[in-house]
Amino acid sequence: MIVIAHRGASGYAPEHTFASWDLAAAMGADYLEQDLQMTREGILVVMHDETLDRTARRNGVPCTGRVIDHTLAELEQCEVGSWFGPTFVDQRVPTLDEVLKRYPDANFYIETKNPEEAPGMEENLLQTLADHGLIEPARTEWRVLIQSFSEASLRKIHAADPALPLIQLLHRKWETSGSIRRRLESIAEYAVGIGPHFSDVDAALVETAHEHCLSVHPYTIDDVAEMARLDSLGVDGIFTNFPDRLLATLPVDEPRGLDALRLAADAYARCRRKSAQET
Ligand code: G3P
Ligand code: CA
Repeated sequence: MIVIAHRGASGYAPEHTFASWDLAAAMGADYLEQDLQMTREGILVVMHDETLDRTARRNGVPCTGRVIDHTLAELEQCEVGSWFGPTFVDQRVPTLDEVLKRYPDANFYIETKNPEEAPGMEENLLQTLADHGLIEPARTEWRVLIQSFSEASLRKIHAADPALPLIQLLHRKWETSGSIRRRLESIAEYAVGIGPHFSDVDAALVETAHEHCLSVHPYTIDDVAEMARLDSLGVDGIFTNFPDRLLATLPVDEPRGLDALRLAADAYARCRRKSAQET
């Protein structure tokens, strides 16, 4: 079971901050998650929302407006911790570059968020990964997974580099287990896995996804009973705001970190070879 720290250990510290990822890394999460937004001048920063209003403050007053309408210098005036708790007032909006530099031994699960609003986001992401020497480790060891709700964004990345491992996110508003199953053949053309909402995950979905060699990584589960239900169905990874809770349910001798990701990458390659031989 791969443990994905959703926005970091964001049950304990403000999402998408060094405080949150530091904690997730210390807990032993296998992946640190990042949602991407882009500044006015085209710099990738890590923030979930398209706008600043919910999490950013300046001297206690909300910073407002769309990230894409602000320069990085403007974002640097805001902090993104005090909304969660006063002790986090020093947390700033991180750039993707800063995150990749700070965690040289971590694995990253990066989402292109609202990419249609930020043309060039995919090219920028691939260049940033290349600058950090992460393209080859992503291809061969799944050290980086790229996720999106946008099929167009994933297909664009796949066209640029078919060996990069991609995860198609699926929104509960538009999907059910049945509707996702009907999309799996098409998703398998460009992705190595799916990220469904946990409420859409049942045995038929996991079984059919695996028949298509697709990993199943449901989001976002903080309840231990639900983690156990998904584990019993055979999902391959779980997004959680509380990585320690999920880790506490897993066998202590299970491979973790890059060892676990390498096994997943190898299993995917074997599955694809086998299905190619069968057709
Ligand atoms: O990326 C998986 C999950 O994080 C998708 O939902 O809104 O938290 O990015 P969201
Ligand atoms: Ca996300």
